[in-house]
This record gives sequence, C-alpha cells and structure tokens, in this order.
Amino acid sequence: MEEQVFSMPRIGDKAPEFKAVTTQGDINFPSDYKGSWVILFSHPADFTPVCTSEFMTFATMEKQFNQANTKLVGLSVDGLYSHIAWLRTIKEKIEYKGMKDVEVTFPLIEDITMEVAKKYGMMMPGESSTKAVRAVFVIDPEGVIRTIIYYPLSLGRNFDELYRVVLALQAADHFKVATPADWRPGDDVIVPTAGSCGTAKDRMGGKEEGLDCKDWFFCTKKLDKDKVLDAILKK
Ligand code: BEZ
Repeated sequence: MEEQVFSMPRIGDKAPEFKAVTTQGDINFPSDYKGSWVILFSHPADFTPVCTSEFMTFATMEKQFNQANTKLVGLSVDGLYSHIAWLRTIKEKIEYKGMKDVEVTFPLIEDITMEVAKKYGMMMPGESSTKAVRAVFVIDPEGVIRTIIYYPLSLGRNFDELYRVVLALQAADHFKVATPADWRPGDDVIVPTAGSCGTAKDRMGGKEEGLDCKDWFFCTKKLDKDKVLDAILKK
C-alpha cells in the first residue's frame, strides 16, 4: 500500500482540518473552535506517569486558559475507551502535588489510526514509531497556527510557559507590539522597529515620547499589566 506523505504544518499555516471522536463527543477541527484560541496538544500514551502529571496540571489550569479565550484539546494514538478509563482513574485515584479529584473536561481525541498525529507531525519515528511526542500547537481564532513547541517523551511540559505564550501572542496582536525574552504582563514591550532613517533619528533624539531606545532598532515602552489583562481576560 502506498504510504501517504504529510508535510509538517508550520507557523503561519492554516491548521489542518480533521474530524475526530473525543471524550467529549465528535469534533470538527478547527471549524468548531472559530473565534477561540486553541491549544492542540499530543501526549504519548494513556496510563503513563508523565502524561498523567501533565493532564492533571492542564485540567487544573483549564479555567485560567478559558478566561484567556483559549480552549484545550488533547490527543494520543490510544482508543476512546482507554482515554475514558484513564481519565476516570485520574479522577478517582491519583493524587499528585496537591491536586486530587481532578476531572479532565476538555476533549481528548482518539487517534488509533494516527491520521491526525501524522497530519500534524506529531509522530517522530526517531523518538517512537508507536507514540506521539509531546507536541503543542497554539492556534488563533482564525484557525492559523501561531506557535509550535515539541518535547520528547520523557520531558513533561511547563504549563505556565504555555499560558505565557497565549498571553504574549494575544498581547502582541492587540497592542501591535512584540514581547521580549521572558516577557510577562506588566513588563515592557518592544515597539515595531523604525522603518525609516527619519524615524530612527527621531527615536534616538528622544522625539517619540514614552519610548526607551537601547539603539534605533530596539525600543521598548511601558505597557501596564492591568491594561494587558483587561484586553485579554474575559470578565
Ligand atoms: C510518560 O508519560 O510517563 C511516558 C510516556 C511514554 C514514554 C515515556 C514516558
């Protein structure tokens, strides 16, 4: 049988479409999520410890993500009944780092055929030919992929970082700025680089109020934390 070849989706591409069965019913992706940001993420397998710690953490933070208009959608190449059994076990039996009785209410896609995992480049045969790696796709309300992050099987993700990514992308869109290293709401932001010699000269001459220019191409400005959170978080 001829093997289908998929190219990996890239930042700036439309999120590849698929229909899937999930623990919360059938979904059409990404059309069901139009108007929301989405984190589509894969995990290697149900009933494994790193994945369990990740699901408990993500589920505990779900409300926080929802407040930032961001929905979570998980995937592994396990079947639906395995997903259901694993999520029940998490709720009924697992206590970890102060989290217990954790209910995973976001959808978890069954992908035994690996169709979705292959479409999204979640299978990395050098790491495993039977399990998806820990891939993260942050998709905007228009269905465009805005960030892609990959982790290997043994490395649990940092969910505070994923939340920071969502806030930074939204702040950059809303305020037309870029966010520097380690940016968090309340930190200074980077204004678009001067596009003309005149602007560069004005900026270095201190003519643009509120800018702190390290050099003509690197100017920051203050952006109040409350202003950022008011623009992003649902009341
Ligand atoms: C885990 O989630 O613990 C795990 C899954 C696959 C390979 C290694 C670790």
